[in-house]
Amino acid sequence: MFSQLKAMPADPILGLSVKFKADNNPRKIDLGPGIYKDDSGHTPVLACVKVAEQFRLDKETSKTYLGSAGSVSFNEQITRLLLGDHKVIGENRIRTLSTPGGTGALRVAGELINKCTPGATIWVSNPTWANHQGVFTAAGLKVKTYPYYDYENKCLDFSGMLEALKRIPGDDVVLLHACCHNPSGMDLNPQQWQQVAEIASQIGFMPLVDIAYQGFGEGLDEDAYGLRLMADSVEQMIVCSSCSKNFGLYRERIGACSVIATSASAADIIYSVLLSVVRVNYSMPPAHGAAIVEAILNSTELSQQWHGELKVMRDRIAGMRQLLVEKLLANGITRDFSFITTQKGMFSFLGIDQHQVQRLQDEFSIYIVGSSRISVAAISPANVDYLTQSIAKVL
Ligand code: LMR
Repeated sequence: MFSQLKAMPADPILGLSVKFKADNNPRKIDLGPGIYKDDSGHTPVLACVKVAEQFRLDKETSKTYLGSAGSVSFNEQITRLLLGDHKVIGENRIRTLSTPGGTGALRVAGELINKCTPGATIWVSNPTWANHQGVFTAAGLKVKTYPYYDYENKCLDFSGMLEALKRIPGDDVVLLHACCHNPSGMDLNPQQWQQVAEIASQIGFMPLVDIAYQGFGEGLDEDAYGLRLMADSVEQMIVCSSCSKNFGLYRERIGACSVIATSASAADIIYSVLLSVVRVNYSMPPAHGAAIVEAILNSTELSQQWHGELKVMRDRIAGMRQLLVEKLLANGITRDFSFITTQKGMFSFLGIDQHQVQRLQDEFSIYIVGSSRISVAAISPANVDYLTQSIAKVL
């Protein structure tokens, strides 16, 4: 049976880390995956997470099953983190399940959509996270794209996006990045969210909001602005969230899939379908990450500590955006890279070609996704000179 198989290419993002680990160059830099690093190049366990883990160790009395929805307390807390005190909570129109990471949430959402309309179309931004296409195709959906990023002018192609959204059939699903757009770093402003929400409400397509970087843009509430506005404007939507980045829980695999329905009874039906989707897939989500997050969110003190630690990460990345642009200039690069400081979250496109990306890897051991997406979160005062000197050489 296995002799039929053909080798698959390495994942465009995760494959880079494998190459990076095997590289012996002491100056190597991994700007591939979206992983936060501090100034010393380390991805720390947040101090609030350490406290929550100790709390869990002391208080946990059983490891019995939690069920396909995962922890009820986590699900309630994460719903509030996403939606604040939005009316859909009071109206009992939202159901949330813990999932294995944000990717798990997207896959569960994809399968739910496919149960409603087999082979439904989901529209994703061009460009989007490299794994969106694969996850939704694997769930049985057709994936199409709407314009989003203007590569030439390094800004949003908002008019192109609006024109495309106006033509999307009402039965389709539209994926929107809530904040810190992956891979471009270009976000919608509040007025633009308003326009998109109006189109969604007029046409009736269902928004699926992917929020994997809440707190890395401008703040926890600010980064949820678009998704909350969308929840004001449409009757049904899906939210897929991740705790990988904002709680630094990457390997614990904890995220959530939330569905807003037209009524409490419709939400109950959707919930039962979600449970069945999970049951035949991974049966139940892992518990550890959810337990950490709920311990933090259930404690005022730990929540405050977390907000502080998240702000440190957010501010450090913003600072690295400034430093990168300054150092590119200092290395005599005349091309305008100032757009990098206007973008949000972990990512930006450098806007260099594939040949230059490959040269950075082969000659300088600097690892960047082929699209020229860099993870600004991996830049530090210690590596920025080598990085910008190397970029200057390939330009
Ligand atoms: C990324 O885009 O780099 C992250 O979301 C990590 C991943 O799983 O791809």
